[in-house]
Amino acid sequence: MLDVIDLNLVFSDHLVPETVVHHLNLHMDEGDLVGLVGESGSGKSMTALAIAGLLSRHDMKKTGQILFRGTDLLTCPRAQLRALQGSEIGIVFQEPQTSLNPVRRVGWQVEESLRIHKPEMDEKERRERAMEMLRAVELPEPERIYASYPHQLSGGQRQRVMIAAAMICSPSLLIADEPTTALDVTVQLSIVKLLAKLSREQKTAILFISHDLSLVKRLCERIVVMKDGRVVEEGSTEQIYARPADEYTRRLIASIPRIERRGRIREGEEGAR
Ligand SMILES: Nc1ncnc2c1ncn2[C@@H]1O[C@H](COP(=O)(O)OP(=O)(O)O)[C@@H](O)[C@H]1O
Ligand SMILES: [Mg+2]
Repeated sequence: MLDVIDLNLVFSDHLVPETVVHHLNLHMDEGDLVGLVGESGSGKSMTALAIAGLLSRHDMKKTGQILFRGTDLLTCPRAQLRALQGSEIGIVFQEPQTSLNPVRRVGWQVEESLRIHKPEMDEKERRERAMEMLRAVELPEPERIYASYPHQLSGGQRQRVMIAAAMICSPSLLIADEPTTALDVTVQLSIVKLLAKLSREQKTAILFISHDLSLVKRLCERIVVMKDGRVVEEGSTEQIYARPADEYTRRLIASIPRIERRGRIREGEEGAR
């Protein structure tokens, strides 16, 4: 489904061009759950934005290929890219607060991709689909949430709204860039569990980006480790955990609090807060 081949991303408008992603290769099949991990500044977000087609063509030089079902997103016509964004490729960012429009009701925002990609749907059908999604992301009182403004919701609820909006067209690929980082620790695991459920139900592949290996381990079958814009290690989650080949990965694993490394996050502390 997704084949990133020898991707290089270079900020070219600087005095000294700065390469932030070097020779990156990434393969995902339909329904794959892949974790992209690495410390802050390692190039995870740039990679995510490139795959989502959200890096403007002007300020960054991009070479290589990003093949989505055979179409190269780096060279395809704009209209073709737009048609894929939000319908086949969804994205969720770290800060639900800044991704949501403060003056629009939640329901209207959840329906956004339908207005763009499914013009044949009328208002009533859009609302039904939005309500279905608000229930799917396990928000309490979906009717009330639909009519609310973002500021009336908690951080965890806003992130659920963002996930509902990103998945309303049933994308085949969801890119989730640090979707839990801004949230309370107790809410983080519930969001990860939600992503796992949605992936199962809708057969969506997820590229889950995080600097928190303990969360990645909960969701992903495969882990790609980035450092300084390069992939330093890649393998199944068990393999990476049991036998990290790279010293950097070993340090990432060691930085996880020991209690979480044993997988003993208290299961009771969930729910849509
Ligand atoms: N506008 C910019 N100009 C030059 N370098 C940038 C710019 N924005 C981000 N970077 C650099 O790109 C690198 C990768 O950033 P990013 O993908 O956001 O990392 P991550 O998401 O892994 O924390 C960082 O070293 C960052 O300093
Ligand atoms: Mg980032």
